[in-house]
Amino acid sequence: MDKLKITGGARLKGQVRISGAKNSALPAMAACLLTADELFLQNLPMVNDIRTTRRLLHELGAEVEFEGSSSARLKAANIGSHEAPYDLVKTMRASVLVLGPLLARTGRARVSLPGGCAIGARPIDLHIKGFEKLGATVITEYGYVEATAKRLKGANIVFEKITVTGTENLMMAAVLAEGQTTLVNAALEPEVTDLAELLNKMGAKIKGAGTSTITIEGVSVLKGASHSIIPDRIETGTFLAAGAMTDSELELTACNPGHLTGIIEKLREAGANIEAGSDTLRVQGGGALRSADVATREYPGFATDMQAQYMALMTQANGISVITENIFENRFMHASELMRMGANIRIDGSRAVVAGKSRLTGAAVIASDLRASASLVLAALVAEGVTTVDRIYHLDRGYERIEEKLRAVGAQIERLK
Ligand code: EPZ
Repeated sequence: MDKLKITGGARLKGQVRISGAKNSALPAMAACLLTADELFLQNLPMVNDIRTTRRLLHELGAEVEFEGSSSARLKAANIGSHEAPYDLVKTMRASVLVLGPLLARTGRARVSLPGGCAIGARPIDLHIKGFEKLGATVITEYGYVEATAKRLKGANIVFEKITVTGTENLMMAAVLAEGQTTLVNAALEPEVTDLAELLNKMGAKIKGAGTSTITIEGVSVLKGASHSIIPDRIETGTFLAAGAMTDSELELTACNPGHLTGIIEKLREAGANIEAGSDTLRVQGGGALRSADVATREYPGFATDMQAQYMALMTQANGISVITENIFENRFMHASELMRMGANIRIDGSRAVVAGKSRLTGAAVIASDLRASASLVLAALVAEGVTTVDRIYHLDRGYERIEEKLRAVGAQIERLK
């Protein structure tokens, strides 16, 4: 397995171009199953989850051709299979996003249950309840969810809990349903709005995306479309934290500051010097960081996908900070690895108490999930000496060429094959 070798202490200087959002690109690719026509997607991040989605779509009979460094042509003229197999779903739980489009387009879908992951149990019961509300028969057995319906019928769906992929899956099912569907307590994430924009370009009738009530008027057929994926707000937040922690001058380009106001505000509260442009962000490190408590919330609150990176930042802040994780029940796996590097962290259920500023020293550490691996890279950038980060296949799932981007602005980082 590849590892990263990082020598800490370098000041970073220069520009980093932010890639497209993984969590917007995945549902957008799944949306190709809703039409026989071609989708042309641009600003795709070439990360492993995108490659896994291509393999999954191929399995289902779709053609997916990557073009240039960040585009793809996708066409599901015929759906050859209705099954998303365990071998693929176990590597990427977002595979569940083919369930809605397959069911809506063909009346049948069989998807392996994703099972739990490092950060939590992550059930899909709310997805299933939604499909049943739309009139589907759903059977869960032998590790698979099998959903069937002659034609889905619009319904009023109230989510007991806000779910991002649940909102996306039901939105993609409802666009071809008979009649009107209302999604209440829907997720507000920019990735949901981006998907609705794509679907409306394909001829769907969606209103209210980005609010907690989304209304969908079903249509009988959808057409092809071209769409450019929004920038990745979590990658943006990760580089802002890198700049703030390492006394650096970074300019992030091709990003959307408006999508991470909660993150920027919190980093400023902690002492980071951040200037926002229309599609750029400048972070100037060097000022003493100070502790600031944070609690993860659904959008527009502080993103749980930035919690691990924020913890790494708080190890370099003066004072005691309390980090409360409200979204996932087991998302502090990175804390023990940060402690191996010298951080002072105490975990108490869904709260982590971080005492700073700590002197971090290089160590061999192991990544447990995507964002945990990013927090270890950040800690390694400020640690004295050499850190090796193992199991970076987690990182490769969601960060495009992160070590190249960091090296280009002065980090001492290399991939050990
Ligand atoms: C999306 O996951 C993101 N993934 C996650 O990003 C992100 O952490 C999460 O939203 C929250 O923002 C993608 O978009 C591909 P949820 P998702 O359904 O949709 C519970 C990353 O690092 N729940 O909004 O799976 C669930 O267990 C990844 O890029 C149910 O109980 O998250 C969790 O506690 C990690 N039943 C909460 O709701 C359900 O049916 C929110 O989960 C669905 C969810």
